[in-house]
Amino acid sequence: MTLPPGPKPKLPGANLLALRRDTLGFLRGLALEYGDLVHFQVGKQDYFLINDPEAIRSVLVTDYRNFAKGRGLEIAKRLLGEGLLTSEGEHHKRQRRLAQPAFHRQRIAAYGSIMVERAQRIGAEWQDGVTLDISQEMMRLTLGIVARTLFDTDLEAETEEIGAAVSEAVHHLDFAMLPFSSLLERLNPAIKRSFQRTRDRLDETVYRMIREHRDGKDRGDLLSMLLLAQDDLGDGGGMTDEQLRDEAMTIFLAGHETTANALTWTWYLLSQHHEVERKFHAELDSVLAGRSPTEADVANLPYTRMVLAESMRRYPPAWVIGRRAVADYRIGEFTLPAGSICMICQYVTHHDPRWYPRPFDFDPERWTPEAQEQRPKFAYYPFGSGPRVCIGEGFAWMEGILLLATLAQQWRLSLLPGHPVAMQPIVTLRPRHGMKMTLERRAASDFNDSQSRLDLATAAK
Ligand code: HEM
Repeated sequence: MTLPPGPKPKLPGANLLALRRDTLGFLRGLALEYGDLVHFQVGKQDYFLINDPEAIRSVLVTDYRNFAKGRGLEIAKRLLGEGLLTSEGEHHKRQRRLAQPAFHRQRIAAYGSIMVERAQRIGAEWQDGVTLDISQEMMRLTLGIVARTLFDTDLEAETEEIGAAVSEAVHHLDFAMLPFSSLLERLNPAIKRSFQRTRDRLDETVYRMIREHRDGKDRGDLLSMLLLAQDDLGDGGGMTDEQLRDEAMTIFLAGHETTANALTWTWYLLSQHHEVERKFHAELDSVLAGRSPTEADVANLPYTRMVLAESMRRYPPAWVIGRRAVADYRIGEFTLPAGSICMICQYVTHHDPRWYPRPFDFDPERWTPEAQEQRPKFAYYPFGSGPRVCIGEGFAWMEGILLLATLAQQWRLSLLPGHPVAMQPIVTLRPRHGMKMTLERRAASDFNDSQSRLDLATAAK
């Protein structure tokens, strides 16, 4: 069987080392050197990096039945059990059908006011001149929003503890990806015990939310929906507490980590690109004219959406999608053997110079409708695609736009001079050292300037 081109190092373990040392640089380098389909091995496992937009479509959409989720999500089951992200086949289909109504357009629209109110609350706590770790602030904000919108719960008092547990869990899952991790765990049982403690901490919150929802009342949130849906299934077998726990834990984690990272990177990028920041502020000031944004404004803030889209291109919060071929699979002249792992890497595709000239420049103008038409659809897929596409995509866009708009109406954020900024691609693409930024209250004159520009523009029409 002829395999696609790729690195064939003489030293065993060299690919693993290169991957661990600089994951994103290594993968991008492979695509640049070998092309759209690259083969490499880690241990005895075959990996294929797929970067051709049509092949990406085939794996995620057209031929999705030929693939199961990759090793990363197998490992994530330690924490997420058989929730939406990790389950497969009929079980996944049924759970997705049950959860879907909570993500319908109208339902999401109703969450808009909670998103704005939460952002205003955090904005009111911030103080002029103070330096904060914005990644923690964004985690706190998005965690609170998921808890309130989807679980009708307030986690204000526990956010710090939960944030620390989530961070620990994510690092553990990253460690578990190493080929020798099970051996290391056997040699050092403390590793497993510490993960168990983290899982117990998160379970405590999730099981409490489930208990509080067992009163049979419909609170209009996702958890009520899942509980009530049990009775509608007609098969007599509702979800067990454990199944509910897995679903709730999945949404709880998937629903805040990614969005918080997207926002953190956006604040960073804005702080480095003053012209973009100025245009962004001008849009907010002219569309909102000082009032609070609402769900209805989302469609009227196209530049804010372009900023967020470009930020998720530069720093895709979900940076890779893994799939395992369940049977031999043909791509062009090559056959990928059953059992091999396909890596579809948002970071690599989103920095492909064929679709994004000067790929490391931050340029929201790439997202005008005309510019988008010039690119293949699968040159951008921050939320994946096909039957396993992110269920929270609409939620995340609305949340991202509303939170950016609400906070930037009042605050400007600048990177603390000397703060090191580096990517840490573990489960999500996090800033390795957090993101220390200094708050500056936007002067009323900023708003007035933009307002008078708008008045002038309107008068000129
Ligand atoms: C910027 C924010 C987000 C990004 C970039 C993102 C990205 C993704 C991606 C790439 C997948 C597909 C994984 C795969 O195919 O293997 C996914 C799945 C998923 N996401 Fe998101 N997500 C975001 C926000 C959210 C939110 C807000 C929620 C819930 C409130 C959510 C819940 C889920 C769930 C449950 C799945 C599994 C869906 C399934 O397999 O049926 N995500 N997400």
